[in-house]
Amino acid sequence: MSNLLLTNIHQLINVRKHPVLLRGQALKELPVLNNAWVQIINGRIADYGTMDICPDATEVYDLKGASVLPCWCDSHTHVVFAASREDEFVDKLKGLSYAEIAAKGGGILNSASKLALTTEEVLYEQAKKRIFEWMALGTGAIEIKSGYGLSFDAELKMLRVIRRLKESLPIPVKATFLGAHTYPALFKEDHESYIDLIINDLLPAIDQEQLADYIDVFCEEGFFTPEETVRICEAGKQYGLKAKIHANQLHLSGGVQAGISVNAVSVDHLETMNEETISLLASSDTIGTLLPTAAYFLRMPFQPARALIDAGAAIALASDCNPGSSPSGNMNTVVSMSCIQMKMLPEEAINAATLNGAFAMGLEKELGSITVGKRANLIITRPIPSIAYIPYAFGSNLIDKVLVNGREVTSE
Ligand code: NIG
Ligand code: FE
Repeated sequence: MSNLLLTNIHQLINVRKHPVLLRGQALKELPVLNNAWVQIINGRIADYGTMDICPDATEVYDLKGASVLPCWCDSHTHVVFAASREDEFVDKLKGLSYAEIAAKGGGILNSASKLALTTEEVLYEQAKKRIFEWMALGTGAIEIKSGYGLSFDAELKMLRVIRRLKESLPIPVKATFLGAHTYPALFKEDHESYIDLIINDLLPAIDQEQLADYIDVFCEEGFFTPEETVRICEAGKQYGLKAKIHANQLHLSGGVQAGISVNAVSVDHLETMNEETISLLASSDTIGTLLPTAAYFLRMPFQPARALIDAGAAIALASDCNPGSSPSGNMNTVVSMSCIQMKMLPEEAINAATLNGAFAMGLEKELGSITVGKRANLIITRPIPSIAYIPYAFGSNLIDKVLVNGREVTSE
């Protein structure tokens, strides 16, 4: 039995006996225990309290005034990919349009053609390396999508890579089937046949190998319509896959309505919203997952976080880590950017990136708060004066150590 005690914690952040999904004004409340200890037994949070009454342990780590918070829960990534796309980034800087870049073979299809030529082994090693980088920066759970396969074989290859990551990584991994990311060239003029491949060939094969937890569709003009989105999500439901969809990134695409109508766990992106979609989302059970680094990288308007929170919505924050629109899985940047650009309060951003992120991938019983019985996936900060300092000092690495299942994360 391992028994580790962290002592002299300046602030133990997000301490909750009964964690619930946070919506609206509840996002502002970030419960903190000052001058605290936390006990970790066999990789889980066993107890916590204040330093006036402190238990014994076989191993004691004196934090000397540093603070502790639950690891980030990154509920939206595309971290399995074959190659970076900085050449497209430079083309964009030079003024090339999206259509011109696509004509040069860029975009999602660029990632798909590179993925088709890359082995499962190489994809696995590359993704594992990236995830360890994000773990050292505080990520303690991650959702990963397919969607750079876009053929029967390559989608299964991607999902098998995600399954291997699930089996080998020390943090929880959730797998999302995003066959409906775009139409592959072969089906450019025949959307029905591609939807047929997704529903009638891929879904049964994915079910057979139990390769996915969720289903996703890129509901967007020029990609999948709201009707197609609903059809694909309903088909996923037959196999027990709940929906988490890409909605309202570039246009008022109908994605929010489609997501709510299939009872999606989350609708993600939400750069393009109006009063109607904000109030629809706020009065639904669906989480709005905001991806500010994607808006930043694409120079899009940031998501209307304030209006969503003030309307009563449940908001999560995620990185969207992918080679095209957010080549970073640094959740510290996501949290800072949410405060700086979307005027989220530090408490709201931390709640959205921890507990609500855990809810957005069904991991709320395991992660996202300092709660007895949850995994000891914890960020130990360098000494910081206050919670607000976390998003404020945006360029600094404020992390001293990251514990995953009570053990320090070391680079591989
Ligand atoms: O979430 N919007 C759709 N998909 C990704 C980007 C895909 C890419 O460019 O590779 C996103 O931003
Ligand atoms: Fe995405």
